[in-house]
Amino acid sequence: MKDKILKLLLEAKGEFISGEYISEKLGISRSAVWKHIKSIKEEGYEIESVTKKGYRLNQYPDLFVSEVIKSKLNTNIIGKKILCFETIGSTNDHAKKIAKESEEGTIILSEEQTKGRGRMGKVWHSIKGDGIWLSIILKPDIPPYHAPIITQIAGLSVVIALNELGVKSSIKWPNDILINNKKICGILTEMSIEIDRIDHIVVGIGMNVKTLDFPNDIENMATSILKEGYSLNRLDILSRILEKFEEFYTDYVSNNDIEKIANMCKTYSAIIGKDIYVIKGDKRRKARGIDINKNGNLIVEYEDGSSEELVSGEVSI
Ligand code: BTN
Repeated sequence: MKDKILKLLLEAKGEFISGEYISEKLGISRSAVWKHIKSIKEEGYEIESVTKKGYRLNQYPDLFVSEVIKSKLNTNIIGKKILCFETIGSTNDHAKKIAKESEEGTIILSEEQTKGRGRMGKVWHSIKGDGIWLSIILKPDIPPYHAPIITQIAGLSVVIALNELGVKSSIKWPNDILINNKKICGILTEMSIEIDRIDHIVVGIGMNVKTLDFPNDIENMATSILKEGYSLNRLDILSRILEKFEEFYTDYVSNNDIEKIANMCKTYSAIIGKDIYVIKGDKRRKARGIDINKNGNLIVEYEDGSSEELVSGEVSI
């Protein structure tokens, strides 16, 4: 019932709605309405109540609540269904579990992950309330070998969303987002294939928003939006990312224009024209980032003048 009242308050978009309207609409007494409003307020929502006018929602806490996210979100597919958890092992694991019976664009969010996963089997620290721990379920009709471009679309969406919100950030090809050369966001894309077609893709996005302390082993490489001096609401960042993602993703699946994505990634690249290292196993080789070509692959040039086209893998700066 509380969720239904919250939904009505959100739908009123900052206008007052009367207790009478709520009680008639939901078939509960006026005093029950008042009791629910009281408990919604206790969760951190700022609700003004004025005699003869009713209730008005003025502020909401920076928590992942699907009704609140929906009321902010301007998308058709991405986030049509939103699942929010207080705690979960990994949003990617959950997404993979429910992907078959879920519609495309379903998103999974959690305040905390207890088994957050990064690439190459690394642990992804996902402290309660500190970040955006998000997975998106997709079912694109594209050949499996085009799937890496979905990661680049996610990176592009994050970087453009942040820059639009005033946070100067860049992409370290193919899937890290950096501020001042430190990582604030990583992307883990996982795919399930049946014969030669994609059954589903899960795009996992982990963004450090409010984290101030990082474990010793990543302290020098990792940062957060807040640590870099920006104070932003997680909900504002999330909705902007999802809107950008829908824009680029729908454009890509209808036009298949990889070059367009690659060119945009190049504009926001942290490594084109810079000295980098290409990492293969336990070997590190000095190189220069030259280009992201029309297939979305990274062209690097080594110190001996030879060059290589990288399809995936690790580079560091
Ligand atoms: C990386 O840079 O190594 C990728 C990190 C991806 C982390 C996100 S957080 C949401 C989703 N669930 C996970 O377990 N991992 C991804």
